[in-house]
Amino acid sequence: MGVSRSAMKDESSVVVRPARNVRGSVAIPGDKSVSHRYAMLGALAEGTTRLSNFSSGADCASTLACMAALGAHVVRGAEGAVEIRGGALHQPAQALDCGNSGSTMRMLSGILAGQEFTSELVGDESLSRRPMRRVMEPLTRMGARIEARDGHAPLRIQGGKLRAIEYHTPVASAQVKSAVLLAGLFAEGETWVEEPLPTRDHTELALEAFGVRVGRAVNRAGLRGGQRLAAIEAEVPGDVSSAAFFLCAAALFPESDLIIERVLLNPTRTAVLDELNMLGLRSMLLDAEDRQHELVGTIQVFGGPLRGTVIAGAEAAALIDELPVLAAIGPYTEGGIEIRDAGELRVKESDRIAAVAANLRAMGAKVEEHDDGLLVPGGQKLHGAEIDAHGDHRIAMAFAVAALRAEGETIIHGADAARISYPQFFEVLNRIAER
Ligand code: S3P
Repeated sequence: MGVSRSAMKDESSVVVRPARNVRGSVAIPGDKSVSHRYAMLGALAEGTTRLSNFSSGADCASTLACMAALGAHVVRGAEGAVEIRGGALHQPAQALDCGNSGSTMRMLSGILAGQEFTSELVGDESLSRRPMRRVMEPLTRMGARIEARDGHAPLRIQGGKLRAIEYHTPVASAQVKSAVLLAGLFAEGETWVEEPLPTRDHTELALEAFGVRVGRAVNRAGLRGGQRLAAIEAEVPGDVSSAAFFLCAAALFPESDLIIERVLLNPTRTAVLDELNMLGLRSMLLDAEDRQHELVGTIQVFGGPLRGTVIAGAEAAALIDELPVLAAIGPYTEGGIEIRDAGELRVKESDRIAAVAANLRAMGAKVEEHDDGLLVPGGQKLHGAEIDAHGDHRIAMAFAVAALRAEGETIIHGADAARISYPQFFEVLNRIAER
């Protein structure tokens, strides 16, 4: 078998052998970003929200558990079916456990800021290291009282009636934008958020799907408080950030031929496809449709020789979750991959700049590390190595992809981190990688 679980040193090691090709068809569980939002809004909406293809990742399970602890009636069925009966939230009996999920903690903070009770949000070790001031600051301005440990979780939020604000976020973050908009639902007047660069707009689209009127302009979104949400029925589109690993894997081999079915094609999320097309991947859109305002479609991709690129500015922000895997395939491109303006990578589930640099070096690559990015020269040959996932799902998956074109076997330690967004990842990778 090309990918095998090792029972040796640590139980979650996975061995990845080189491949000669990537071929097949993949349907991916629901997008993590969209699943979080539908779960939160379903809990606020009147009626029962019925979802299919909900994310299978642990992060979205954390959100569902938090919403249940806040009083929503949540039932999980087979194969991504989820029902949420929403309504008024009530004070949870215990601290809300956000696990590893920054999206859960930051976006839920916005909702909790508007509730007439006090709640506490906790997270795992990684989440407790991540910056929370970015949401505390605007929510405090709106009238919530938030205590933290030096800007980090645990957060204690004393919510209540809020005042609307016009907020210019210093950091391009969809989670911050979302926290403010969600708090805006409970504020008097119109709340607006302006961001320095456009970020994913799923909160705006999901709010509209649940019946909320949302104002939109370039880099701005706003809403009037006090609007009611109505339950929806929806299929969550496949996760495009999970698809990115398979797209990058396909890009490594000229003979690749891969179909990704019913994947999210929201333009604020498809920069990875544009980037790979520019590098040399050939792709075709087989079908596309609008679902709850989100664009969904099936794509077919074919490999080819990969050129090189520089990713900076707005592009870096648009590719923030895909930068680790793009960097990991950098050595196999002709011209290399340079990433700049991506300092945010240092405050993700791990310091992703350091983790990518260390793991590329372990595989024998030359790489230059910068405060805000990496320079990965092209035309390099890598060898199999022992990879440390640093407890980070995207690092584990990125290096499983890099391993496909290395010489010899690669062992990914801490591979079970993939469960955070895509528990089935290694099985699917094994199915589509031809040896
Ligand atoms: C997300 C926004 C991004 C992204 C994260 C999911 C979201 O984080 O990295 O994986 O669902 O809104 P930031 O808001 O911190 O950029």
